Amino acid sequence: METPFDVLQIDSNADEAEVIEAYRRRVKEAHPDHGGSADEFQLVRSAYEELRTSYSLGTRDLDRVDDDEPSDDSDADPNAESQPQGARVEYLNYDVLSDFPWELTDEDLFEKAAEAELDSEDYGTVVVEPRTCLLKAAEDDGHKWPYACRGGACANCAVAVVDGEMEMPANHILSPEMMEYGIRLSCISTPTTDDVKVVYNIEHLPGLDELRLPSQQARHMRSSD
Ligand code: FES
Repeated sequence: METPFDVLQIDSNADEAEVIEAYRRRVKEAHPDHGGSADEFQLVRSAYEELRTSYSLGTRDLDRVDDDEPSDDSDADPNAESQPQGARVEYLNYDVLSDFPWELTDEDLFEKAAEAELDSEDYGTVVVEPRTCLLKAAEDDGHKWPYACRGGACANCAVAVVDGEMEMPANHILSPEMMEYGIRLSCISTPTTDDVKVVYNIEHLPGLDELRLPSQQARHMRSSD
């Protein structure tokens, strides 16, 4: 049976940086649009998640990582249990900005959006339960936001946080400037304030476009989450 190291095609004594580098390479190779398949893509993603879990637990003994181990939850805010309800995330589709004389940096962007009678696809609110990532919450609410890897290795799911805070447990691709600007990857980010405002669909912004993978259609991958 293949180990996560076999799937990522690295030596079993690879360090964390080598795991990350291998993941970024393999997730592109395994992508269905690059000659891979949805199954292979998920296999690579699962291998990376398993290794990431083992590193975060401070152990390299993969035999101890079984189905009962916590996965992403191990990175969650330990204070999250004290949050009685989910965060309220107000969202706006970046594509809409080209239809109005609006800029991403407008301080009253969301006030203007609220008055513009936009479709729920473009503007609205989604509740994100504790320890749930924004992309998952949006999908559970019926939205089809862009994504590709679901593992922090591309910029397809990027959002701009214009108010509130979103926490990413790890960042391997966004520059410090992007982080400072409020860019977050919605597939691995969770609100840490009760109210958040985000602009989604920003993956074509300069700097992010180069980090994109071919988009996955929701129908290909959603069932595996
Ligand atoms: S979909 Fe690739 S980082 Fe979120």
